[in-house]
Amino acid sequence: MLKVTVLNDNRLYNSSLSCEHGLSLYIETEDQKILFDTGDSDLFLRNAEKIGIRPEEADCIVLSHGDYDHTGGLRYLPGGQKLMAHPMATAFRISRKRGTPAGMPMSEEDLKAKYRVCFSREPQKLGEHILFLGEIERVTDFEGKSFPMIDEQKRTYPCPDDSGLAIRTGEGLVVISGCAHSGICNTVEYAKKLTGQSHVRAVLGGFHLLKMDETAQKTIDYMKENTDTVCLAHCTEDEVCEAFAAQMPGRTRVLGAGIVCEWE
Ligand SMILES: [Fe+2]
Ligand SMILES: [Fe+2]
Repeated sequence: MLKVTVLNDNRLYNSSLSCEHGLSLYIETEDQKILFDTGDSDLFLRNAEKIGIRPEEADCIVLSHGDYDHTGGLRYLPGGQKLMAHPMATAFRISRKRGTPAGMPMSEEDLKAKYRVCFSREPQKLGEHILFLGEIERVTDFEGKSFPMIDEQKRTYPCPDDSGLAIRTGEGLVVISGCAHSGICNTVEYAKKLTGQSHVRAVLGGFHLLKMDETAQKTIDYMKENTDTVCLAHCTEDEVCEAFAAQMPGRTRVLGAGIVCEWE
């Protein structure tokens, strides 16, 4: 059993909730409850309260990466939980577009004082069926061409902290990403390699496809062959979602805050 509830996303699904740029998912399996990202503010908590979810009771918080729109909400949780992330998740970064800091709004010291932090570049098992991917191998030739962040020396920040989850269900894998700065196809390939599973039932999360370009088309071609369905969220722009829906009819879901996805 796998249930994913979208607590925050760029888009809105349940009109009694609100949404903002960012991502936060509440993931439930038979033996684990995971808060995957927190969005930028306390909005994920306000939405969760309205739909009867208590993110503070999660067994583990997983950070897809350190960008502010996935980690800002960490300031509003009571603390004490296990928190899994890549060790570079607290690295300083600046938005290329705005020129302002765009990393986690908590220092590594504050994070460690508040949470039981587990940093890992290596994959880590979080439960019977859930694997934190750690640092994702980048193998495709059409991904990882553009990155939205730079470091203090104004060099491109290629987001080595970008990770995701591979969750085993009865009939194959569900792969979950935050922004997929490593490339969403790379994320799927790495999940398949680590788990030895070849059947991917769904790929869910931000695909970091901001326009319908060559990378987006090659990603659609890849997904047609490599997963049953795509569940598109966050940094997957509308025109890319429309192209997925046209080219993968009946196999594309566009997510929004409040939507629930379930697999047996
Ligand atoms: Fe993001
Ligand atoms: Fe990001």
